[in-house]
Amino acid sequence: MTASGMKASASETTEVVLEADGLTKHFPVRKRGREVFSKVSRVVRAVDDVSLTLRRGRVTALVGESGSGKSTVARLLAQLYDRTAGDIKLHGESVSVKSGKRFRAYSRRVQMIFQDPFASLNPVHTVRYHLTRALKIHDRAGKTKEDLEKALEALLTRVQLTPPERYIDKFPHELSGGQRQRVAIARALGADPEALLADEPVSMLDVSIRLGVLNLLRDLKERLNLAILYITHDIASARYFADETIVMYAGRIVEGGDSETVTQRPAHPYTQLLIDSAPDPDQIAAHSASEKDRGTGEPPSLINPPAGCRFHPRCPHVMDRCRTELPPRFEIGDGPGHFAACWLYADGQATSESSGTGPGSSDGRARSGEHA
Ligand SMILES: Nc1ncnc2c1ncn2[C@@H]1O[C@H](COP(=O)(O)OP(=O)(O)O)[C@@H](O)[C@H]1O
Ligand SMILES: [Mg+2]
Repeated sequence: MTASGMKASASETTEVVLEADGLTKHFPVRKRGREVFSKVSRVVRAVDDVSLTLRRGRVTALVGESGSGKSTVARLLAQLYDRTAGDIKLHGESVSVKSGKRFRAYSRRVQMIFQDPFASLNPVHTVRYHLTRALKIHDRAGKTKEDLEKALEALLTRVQLTPPERYIDKFPHELSGGQRQRVAIARALGADPEALLADEPVSMLDVSIRLGVLNLLRDLKERLNLAILYITHDIASARYFADETIVMYAGRIVEGGDSETVTQRPAHPYTQLLIDSAPDPDQIAAHSASEKDRGTGEPPSLINPPAGCRFHPRCPHVMDRCRTELPPRFEIGDGPGHFAACWLYADGQATSESSGTGPGSSDGRARSGEHA
């Protein structure tokens, strides 16, 4: 993992494919009762000021609890939603498409994979139908029947559904969850995309087959040089699978950097909380944080999110300024591109003090607490 990550960053495979810059999505809340007469319209601040970069041949994990805005980010990037603010760039060019030809041209290059392969495949149609349709929509079905047959075989082989003839005429219900997700991936590949947006692609699958599907995605990343956004609530899988990891809390990015650093030396108290509550036996053994240290409570309402840092009501290290001032990104300096949007790292204080012990250790955490 580390070796392949280093190889990728050292070669030309790091070309930027897709960028989000200050991406923001506020959903209007429908007015109820007396609100109808009020001029004030409320919004759900699902995504605020999210910036991220997807590179060729790299997996970027977007990690966060349910409701933190991950799917909304993916749908914005896929141009399935229009945005409230911000910019999306494909190979450096701003793109904003709604429907029709331009949308199809965009989706040929940026494809999405959804969480539930059962819901995303039509139960009355076979694998052949789904894949043929994808190939035809994106002009990749060839001229003859033989061309099409070859393209279908190639797609199924690529997702390791072999021999292809065993799967091609099956209906979704005749396949296992893992096989269905492979068909959904094959359908996305039918467009020959440059970027894949995978929204919790394995979270509905049996634990025993998750690894197989993640390994397939990794194989595609390497062989097809795809830029992959891997959305998950499971930070342990991000460490295993992603080159880079970004952590979201309540619609905002709180931390990011290379996966090894973010998961081994989490800087933001929220990332530390995520890692402490991940069902990973090694992590549980390594961190025996007390209840108080872990922070408590629930993610906030996104209609009236907390001022300042949105994590402050749950944060065990909360300081006065956290309640009022939004923390910008601070460089942590202990790994490639490692940053945290947390006042603990203002003026490089925590950065220099916690070097040596590792900010993720309970030692580093206790020390960070002194700033509170
Ligand atoms: N179409 C929508 N209309 C209104 N609110 C939405 C819509 N989609 C998502 N939300 C809200 O935006 C927030 C983020 O949702 P989502 O992006 O689905 O989070 P995640 O994928 O991390 O679970 C949630 O509070 C959710 O209720
Ligand atoms: Mg989601």
